Amino acid sequence: MSNPAPSPGVGVLDQGAELTFPSGFLWGAATAAYQIEGAATEDGRGPSIWDTFSHTEGTVVAGHTGDVACDHYHRLASDVSLMADLGLKSYRFSVSWPRVQPTGSGPANAKGLDFYRRLVDDLLASDIEPWLTLYHWDLPQRLEDEGGWPARDTAARFADYTRLVVDALGDRVRHWTTLNEPWCSAFLGYGSGVHAPGRTDSAAAVRAGHHLMLGHGLAVQALRAARPEAQVGVTVNLYPVDPATDSPEDVDAARRIDGLANRFFLDPLLRGSYPQDVRDDLRRICDFGHVREGDLAVIAAPLDLVGINYYSRHVVAAGPPEPASSGFVSGSTWPGSEDVRFVSRGVPVTDMQWEIDAPGLVETLRRVHEEYTDLPLYVTENGSAFVDTVVDGRVDDVDRVAYFDAHLRAAHAAISAGVPLVGYFAWSLMDNFEWAWGFTKRFGMIYVDYDDDQARIPKSSARWYAEVIRRNGLAAQ
Ligand code: FCB
Repeated sequence: MSNPAPSPGVGVLDQGAELTFPSGFLWGAATAAYQIEGAATEDGRGPSIWDTFSHTEGTVVAGHTGDVACDHYHRLASDVSLMADLGLKSYRFSVSWPRVQPTGSGPANAKGLDFYRRLVDDLLASDIEPWLTLYHWDLPQRLEDEGGWPARDTAARFADYTRLVVDALGDRVRHWTTLNEPWCSAFLGYGSGVHAPGRTDSAAAVRAGHHLMLGHGLAVQALRAARPEAQVGVTVNLYPVDPATDSPEDVDAARRIDGLANRFFLDPLLRGSYPQDVRDDLRRICDFGHVREGDLAVIAAPLDLVGINYYSRHVVAAGPPEPASSGFVSGSTWPGSEDVRFVSRGVPVTDMQWEIDAPGLVETLRRVHEEYTDLPLYVTENGSAFVDTVVDGRVDDVDRVAYFDAHLRAAHAAISAGVPLVGYFAWSLMDNFEWAWGFTKRFGMIYVDYDDDQARIPKSSARWYAEVIRRNGLAAQ
């Protein structure tokens, strides 16, 4: 499959019009357990791969860890009040597997489940729909010691853990997503090793990707068996991938990166097969002998929704990577395609150096709808890091407001083009532990002052988003 050509009319978004979203559009904000909870050793929580990784020297900027993070574990009630102040219709959070099942197998840790019961009850009492993600990257360390995601058994363990969570919360939580961004878990966790568990083994990364998706499929079965009425899906992170020029080499580089970043996951999950060209590209890395008869049918179990995380676009060219971006040892972020170069176009970037590209959201949503599925789609993450400063107790994050505004206009353009987009979750509710970047990158609509008793300061973007939710759309500018 080639990259979709930009559709007429979506390249330039009308910046001036008042836009109303369909009624019932689900406005939300998202977080993840390890990024906000803290309380890493409290109430029986076991260690996850992110605890081990962040405590390993040289892995996270400035040696930051999620030990305390935003201390959300102890501030649950006031954090839910802040969500209510924003008028959120939904809150997307993740459950920490090792808080619920400290070693990744065996019975549930009742105190861990109690925390999520309280969270869900508080949300429901505030008319905020809980949206639960089962896996946002915090694998119990014991399971990593036993082989981690490259080992097939981890998929079965994930289904067991899912059963514990759905038994406890299935009566109150309607929306479930299994995995968040399996590409990151597989290729950053086991390929380049910039994320936990920090392994650099390309073949292991490919196996991890498969077993994550198998775990997803088994978890879907567990959710269906326990709660036939549950709305179940998965969240993938997607990018439009463009060639830097129309030379055949660059076009092929784009095909390969699109294959690894997008189609490696979309095709099994939504079509029940791996793309043949991606298998061919990976031939010298791995023979796919880990894929067993029947796996793909499990992976492609029917879903109720698809979650898409969108941040930016990749533009790529053939040729040796810049030495600085290489990092290739025995594993890499892009197994078998280490010779692809990521090209920057010189357009404005966020504090992550990610290029700001709102039309890419329209392309991404249209592609999933037009090439893969009629299912309802949700943007389960979209947002930006910028350097925020507190002045007289206020944070006026105009760049973040502009980012959200442009991407919501893009979301609206996608709906106008026929995409069944029914919800949007801003990343993130509050500043938090940004993985390998620690606390140095701020994505929140709420500023967290880590040095001043974790004070929460709603930024301008929080007030702006509350107004978007209130009017179910964007004002004319
Ligand atoms: C996504 C992650 C999320 C956050 C944002 C910035 O890849 O799902 O946890 O780190 O990026």
